[in-house]
Amino acid sequence: MYSVEPKELELRKRHGFLLGGIAPRPIAFVSTISKDGVNNLAPFSFFNAFGANPPTIAFSPARRGRDNTTKDTYQNLLDTGECVVHAVTFDIVEQMNLASSEFAADVDEFLKAGFTPLDSHLVKPKRVKESPFHMECKLIDMVEMGGGAGSGNFAICEVIKYHISEDIMTDGHIDPYKIDLVGRNGGNYYTRANGDALFEIAKPGLSIGMGYDKLPDYIKKSDVYTANDLGKIAMQVELPPLEEVKTRIGQIELLDAEPEMFDRHARLGDYEMMLKIALSLHKKGDSRKIFFERTAKLALDFDDLDFALDVVVYTGNEF
Ligand SMILES: Cc1cc2nc3c(=O)[nH]c(=O)nc-3n(C[C@H](O)[C@H](O)[C@H](O)COP(=O)(O)O)c2cc1C
Repeated sequence: MYSVEPKELELRKRHGFLLGGIAPRPIAFVSTISKDGVNNLAPFSFFNAFGANPPTIAFSPARRGRDNTTKDTYQNLLDTGECVVHAVTFDIVEQMNLASSEFAADVDEFLKAGFTPLDSHLVKPKRVKESPFHMECKLIDMVEMGGGAGSGNFAICEVIKYHISEDIMTDGHIDPYKIDLVGRNGGNYYTRANGDALFEIAKPGLSIGMGYDKLPDYIKKSDVYTANDLGKIAMQVELPPLEEVKTRIGQIELLDAEPEMFDRHARLGDYEMMLKIALSLHKKGDSRKIFFERTAKLALDFDDLDFALDVVVYTGNEF
């Protein structure tokens, strides 16, 4: 690994490693108003939420690296103590990018970037109609991280009102498939959170998994199970007892199988049939551990944990 202390790097590089390694970052699209009443809009990806009671978010309108000047958002927040933070969705990324241009303080960035201003309910800064998620906020604190060029200004805000478009909601929740959020990576890269980029992992909840250290070697040493498969198995409270597994698997009807049938059913994602074929071949004396492990792996991919664990335990016992 390349290991280095930030003090050995020039500022650009220090910044670049943060941007590349901490990604994709959510983007706060921040609306403020100057003390002279000019609307301001700018994106900030040094941004996140930090607590729900009260709802607390923070972002960093940092000092410019090139000349240590401050940004309009920072000044407006200090002057007025208010902002509206919006989500950035795919259909407004180009306009968001336009709003990040260094327009002068007296330029209305709603006008420049082509956004429609909406009145807020509890604060003065306007809301961006084209974003489906708005948070009206009060500044709680501005923590300045040193005051040097490129230093962060940690704008900590309390959310005092949410506005959520019905278009992005399902059953009262924000639907990740509908909101189509965009995140910021290093360089000029962005990530679009939609389609295949979205996936689910069940939370551990209150049940405590057995942990990686409790996995038997026959699971850990498999060439088929990936690190994620092992993680999924280790999340389970325990492996099913062998006797119960044998009973369940013993009830499966066998068939007159040939090895080439296995791959055909694997391509179809039919792990139940794969197990039937693997068992039938096993019975005929044509034993292949890899068939069982591939079956278990596919069941894990489909999150059929009960089925997968039976096959995992059975395989460990038979081979
Ligand atoms: C996606 C994106 C994320 C950005 N994130 C930050 C950030 O976290 N902090 C920052 O100081 N500038 C960030 N910038 C740059 C500011 O948006 C830019 O300096 C802007 O002109 C500031 O506007 P203002 O002077 O109106 O506040 C980002 C720009 C883009 C396009």
